[in-house]
Amino acid sequence: MSDSRQDTLLDSVLGAIGNTPLVELSRITRRLEGRILAKLEYLNPGFSKKDRIALQMIQEAEADGRLKPGQTVVELTSGNTGTGLSIVCAVKGYPFVAVMSKGNSTERARMMKALGAEVVLVDQLPGSMPGQVSGGDLALVEQAAQRIVKERNAFRADQFHLQSNARAHYLHTAPEILRQAGGRIDAFCDFAGTGGSFSGCAAAFKEHDPGIQCYLVEPAGAAILAGQPVTNPNHRIQGGGYSIAELSLIHKSHIDGYLQVTDEEAMDFARRLAREEGIFAGFSSGANVAAAVRLLKTTQPGKTIAVLLCDSGLKYLSTDLWL
Ligand SMILES: Cc1ncc(COP(=O)(O)O)c(C=O)c1O
Repeated sequence: MSDSRQDTLLDSVLGAIGNTPLVELSRITRRLEGRILAKLEYLNPGFSKKDRIALQMIQEAEADGRLKPGQTVVELTSGNTGTGLSIVCAVKGYPFVAVMSKGNSTERARMMKALGAEVVLVDQLPGSMPGQVSGGDLALVEQAAQRIVKERNAFRADQFHLQSNARAHYLHTAPEILRQAGGRIDAFCDFAGTGGSFSGCAAAFKEHDPGIQCYLVEPAGAAILAGQPVTNPNHRIQGGGYSIAELSLIHKSHIDGYLQVTDEEAMDFARRLAREEGIFAGFSSGANVAAAVRLLKTTQPGKTIAVLLCDSGLKYLSTDLWL
């Protein structure tokens, strides 16, 4: 990732990954004490933070020989990692197969296909709703991904297990935030899917200042990491909240607290981001801002809280987020 992408000629779009702006949400926090600093990850080439991990996973696998020239790359994706991998694989010349639940929004599959990926869509469990991908739905996608890896002798860009996922955020996202914020943040809260961005950012923040409080955000009714019973696996916050009891990338010692966000709160704040701040982001971005506002109103009044705005609102034009 280039540190000065604004004023250099890039030799491919991969150089445009990362170094996203950090923006203070001063309109949303108008009547609150404290600040929310939002990292505009939707400005990456694939319109999500997952471009970062796609690049890191492929670069590390190339470097240590797990990925051979021309070998097929396969990954299970809710669309964003797949889009990032589609971009990286297009530039580097690897065939890429994205395996995705039919429950994820159609924009994602269409974008990956446009970028040259082969997209395999997996049926949801009986009773699951489109737009609501449960842990059970994800298990079916995992089975399909494993089968395709075997059939094609492919490299699995396994975002749930490869340390490169967290490392992308440890090496880049969090240091960028610290630089942009002048080294001063008090807290970070992050909605977990694989837990990669929470894990990598929390590790870097704690290294910088062990006092930075890191909160894991989950859907209300699917807060399994907080030890709560799962009553609503079919929430609306795409990209995470899969009710997976253990996320191997997350270090429990980095978690200072857990927050739960309802679908309505996530949607409300995604809409407020658009209307009040001119920031067009998705459900999980809304969830992160809802959680940050809760922190300012409760345990962190007057503090500076960093959040990631994970992906673009354009990815949800087919849903009722934007009516
Ligand atoms: C839109 C969106 N938000 C949040 C997440 C969760 O990020 P992580 O996997 O780093 O926990 C994802 C992951 O796919 C995502 O696509």
